[in-house]
Amino acid sequence: APSVADARKDNPMWSSRLAFILAASGSAVGLGNIWKFPYITGENGGGAFVLVYLLCIALIGIPIMIAEVMIGRRGGRSPINSLRMLTQHDGLSSRWTWIGWMGITASFLILSFYSVIGGWALAYVGQSASGVFAGGDADSIGALFGDLLADPWTLLLWHSIFMVLVIIIVARGIRSGMEKAINILMPLLFVLLLVMVGYAINSGEFVQGFTFLFQPDFSKLTTAGFLTALGHAFFTLSLGMGVMMAYGSYLPKNVSIVKTAVAVSVVDTAVALLAGLAIFPLVFANGLEPGSGPGLIFQTLPLAFGKMTGGVLFGSLFFTLLVVAAVTSAISLLEPVVEWLEEQKGISRLSGTLIGGVAIWLLGMLTILSFNEWADVYPLSFIPAFESKTIFDLLDYATANVMMPLGGLCIAIFTGWFMSKQAVENQLDIGNRIAFKSFMFVLRFITPAAVAVVFIYNLV
Ligand code: PHE
Ligand code: NA
Repeated sequence: APSVADARKDNPMWSSRLAFILAASGSAVGLGNIWKFPYITGENGGGAFVLVYLLCIALIGIPIMIAEVMIGRRGGRSPINSLRMLTQHDGLSSRWTWIGWMGITASFLILSFYSVIGGWALAYVGQSASGVFAGGDADSIGALFGDLLADPWTLLLWHSIFMVLVIIIVARGIRSGMEKAINILMPLLFVLLLVMVGYAINSGEFVQGFTFLFQPDFSKLTTAGFLTALGHAFFTLSLGMGVMMAYGSYLPKNVSIVKTAVAVSVVDTAVALLAGLAIFPLVFANGLEPGSGPGLIFQTLPLAFGKMTGGVLFGSLFFTLLVVAAVTSAISLLEPVVEWLEEQKGISRLSGTLIGGVAIWLLGMLTILSFNEWADVYPLSFIPAFESKTIFDLLDYATANVMMPLGGLCIAIFTGWFMSKQAVENQLDIGNRIAFKSFMFVLRFITPAAVAVVFIYNLV
């Protein structure tokens, strides 16, 4: 059969397998791990939620990441064009390209709130450096966060700075520079998380925090919690919207997709669990509420920075690295939007970045207001499940709990049931027959069924 892909002849490939892992981890590791994972774990009662989340990573996340990278590498183009090309080549309906359109919409919506939270992290770089956390207790640290949220103009300022950073990087079309930065800064973030876990072991209620995270108590897990865990597996691995397809299109032919996807998922999961281990011991040591919501890390970590020696330095460094992690994820969210504007609308890269970036920045206002002026505005309150969801909550829900799992479901079905079997086998290149057959079984049956069951369960 003729080869479908021209394998991005005019685009440089990742210099190695490691370079791809670092780049894909740059997208995966972000606010999802350090900000979102701890607070939704707290809201959903801990251990049982974490267990379901880990199962979702293993049985749903990893297979879908493999599927996405496979589509991207075989198509060798942007997600929509890869899908268009593969469906044409394999004689399938062009409707599958709809996955790519939904992905762009999801990127657009996610970045609008992601940037606002990235702005919180930026604000906390300054707060840490100024030394205001020194000697703080739960009340004073909580009040600092409360003051930040209450002031839409300050939030707007940081949100704007964050978006400008992302726009500049994307407009300049950066790949190689980023590889180097991620290379150094991501491992550093990892080390700093280890320092925080060390602090939690010495000065927090470590056993209680550990038990909360890893001892499953299923009486605390609601049906909605299942969907949140599933959605977070997609969110944290940047799945179901074509981001990993885009990265896959740059992956050299001789690199194992399976090993690579597993490596990225393990790194991402490790960062999330470390964040949990750093935070929950502080939550319990300071009599805080695990389920206190999106402010959780901003109300706990500063307590540690305020007490430990070198806290000003560690705190500033930690929030700086969190910003870096958030920016590398944000780039992978803006890219698809810009690529789409370039390809479909014939707009230049610079204009595309500006148009996309400004539109997302404007949409970010809705999230900003969700934390103050509109904190009591629940647009879908007539639906019982959305009774007390703010606009920010709804954006988060629509993307992580609906669009991403739906996209992932389609991707699993596409690669498992429709895409040329021969192509799948070639791309995966799993020598061992039994291993290959088992993987295909998971991709064709287990992954789609698991997503579908969680969805249907939530509807009834
Ligand atoms: N995975 C990123 C995080 O955990 C968020 C993200 C989602 C990035 C989807 C790109 C696409 O922070
Ligand atoms: Na992540």
